[in-house]
Amino acid sequence: MSSTADKRVLSGMRPTGRLHLGHYHGVLKNWVKLQHEYECFFFIADWHALTTHYEDVRGIENSVWEMLADWLAAGVDPSHAVLFVQSRMPQHAELHLLLSMMTPLPWLERVPTYKDQQEQLKEKDLATYGFLGYPLLQSADILLYKARHVPVGADQVAHVELTREVARRFNHLFGREPGFQEAVDQAIDKMGKKSARVYVDLRRRYQELGDADALATAQALVRDQSNITLGDKERLLGALEGLGKIILPEPQALLTPAARMPGLDGRKMAKSYGNAISLRDESDVVAEKVRKMPTDTARVRRTDAGEPTRCPVWALHEVYSDEARRTWVMEGCRSAGIGCLECKKPIIDAINDELAPMRQRAAEIERNPDMLRSIIAEGCARAREVAEDTMDEVREAMGLAYR
Ligand code: TRP
Ligand code: SF4
Repeated sequence: MSSTADKRVLSGMRPTGRLHLGHYHGVLKNWVKLQHEYECFFFIADWHALTTHYEDVRGIENSVWEMLADWLAAGVDPSHAVLFVQSRMPQHAELHLLLSMMTPLPWLERVPTYKDQQEQLKEKDLATYGFLGYPLLQSADILLYKARHVPVGADQVAHVELTREVARRFNHLFGREPGFQEAVDQAIDKMGKKSARVYVDLRRRYQELGDADALATAQALVRDQSNITLGDKERLLGALEGLGKIILPEPQALLTPAARMPGLDGRKMAKSYGNAISLRDESDVVAEKVRKMPTDTARVRRTDAGEPTRCPVWALHEVYSDEARRTWVMEGCRSAGIGCLECKKPIIDAINDELAPMRQRAAEIERNPDMLRSIIAEGCARAREVAEDTMDEVREAMGLAYR
């Protein structure tokens, strides 16, 4: 494996239009850092948007361009990262289809987001084929680029896990070189009847049900065999994990450091809660939003002492303030030494300082809107090279390379 492919990172975001500080602290800031350390592919997952929004497709186009503009404003840099749009890349659909042939239905049904989201989005009919299959589409997104690292939030880790299982199964089914299976079968016979039966059963439990304990038990069983050669042990271990030749490497979740960006009301920042600061808010809008923030309800008058841990403004100090200023808040609030507006002032300044370079880049983009199209055209061209290489291997492995 080449060193760049070893360090390839891929992540996607559904097109949601304008982004806010929650996206910045939760995702984009991390991407901006990663793009200097890895070969990064970041894409707009517009097909993923359809899995839940198939009834209102008209807004998607706008959301795509607005979101891309915000990525760039936040510092995602097309000269460091490959930026592309999923629906321009039919290879995602092709790989998704091929993977769907060999993905057991229960693997999809037990993905936690499947039931959770159906519960949460009750007003929508999500008993669709596309919705059940969307984690597998995500697997195709990842495997198509042989990405080793997938920066995601905790809610997406199960999808990366699924991807690993799917890759393992794919390699197991299609990655074995000629003669591998026969050699494995002979090695199994050499274990003796009883161990052989246990091995086969554990292997099935691991490969079909994803039972990790079964894998560990089987590995120990193989290592403990005294009457088989080292080569046979390696075959048996490889066969346990479906390894032969690895065509689609297993990715790893790169868990984004849990940056739970608090919103204006203390809850998590989210557009739907109406508690967000947009990356495009002007400085007076930011000031107004922060000034209007609720504070500790016990502080009715300026002379009442307050308790920062009961105040949403404090949550922002935890993001933006250093130790000294936090002490100033703690002591000033508890002794009624400072007023709430005074306490909010440094937050307003910190947010506006953070947004200033973004506003500048955004203005540049607005002066030159064609830039967005050409960035995507270039990104898609680069992504296509990688995707086509993978698909050539996949088609070959699946016996589909004839013409
Ligand atoms: N499912 C992700 C989300 O809803 C977006 C996504 C699609 C993604 N494909 C991906 C993330 C591949 C990482 C890798 O947020
Ligand atoms: Fe909140 Fe600051 Fe007012 Fe205390 S002084 S209640 S921390 S805004």
